[in-house]
Amino acid sequence: MKLIFSEDRERLYRWIVDQLEEVIDGNPSPLIGLATGATFEPVYQRLIPAIKDRDLSGLHTVNLDEYYPIQRNAPQSFYSYMRSRVFEPLGLDSRQTLVLNGETSDPKCACQAFEAYIRERNGIDLQLLGIGRNGHIGFNEPSHVFEMETHLTQLSDVTIKDNLRYFKSKDSMPLHALTMGIGTIMSAKSIVLLAVGESKKSALQALISGKITPQLPASILKLHPDCTVLIDALAGEDLDWSLGTRI
Ligand code: PGA
Repeated sequence: MKLIFSEDRERLYRWIVDQLEEVIDGNPSPLIGLATGATFEPVYQRLIPAIKDRDLSGLHTVNLDEYYPIQRNAPQSFYSYMRSRVFEPLGLDSRQTLVLNGETSDPKCACQAFEAYIRERNGIDLQLLGIGRNGHIGFNEPSHVFEMETHLTQLSDVTIKDNLRYFKSKDSMPLHALTMGIGTIMSAKSIVLLAVGESKKSALQALISGKITPQLPASILKLHPDCTVLIDALAGEDLDWSLGTRI
């Protein structure tokens, strides 16, 4: 796991946009794994102008996760997030993008179809990840096991608390989600995790100095051969920056 630190978030955003451009330019039919959350909004804002004039007809994307149950067009759905921030601005059509379906009556089948979509495209070339305060990646919450395949899961109390701000009340917030599994994330050819802001400090500390444990799902990334963790000054305040590269 490579660490990149910067006092200037802009450099981290640019670094990720450069990686995405490299994958898109280097492969006629890339499959990119996208993430949602506040962390990635600035990345997508910079990505759109950088790539919108390219021929993106060979590009496919999958998303890490989606609330369950949720109407696809609800403003809080990750589908709505992606449609307005990425799919529509880039003119990607619905066959090019896959977000797990929060409306399905058969979550198991949706998860299997999701895995098949990735397999048929020879795997994910680059997977973007955020990290939760509790160390979750996607909606793989702290647990006693790493759940390898894409699955239906229960949101943890920490995640419910953190994401409640997007909903009117706890009663209107889905308490479950569909998430790409840990094994599926780990099978991506390369992974980029972005952590910004003070709230990520303790998860990063545990990731970097702790052991590999399903209690901190992100810790599995230490076993990935090509994973880069990008950290801003606030998230990296208590970390030893000499362990990584400063940009
Ligand atoms: P955030 O979410 O970008 O909104 O902090 C990250 C995550 O929960 O993975």
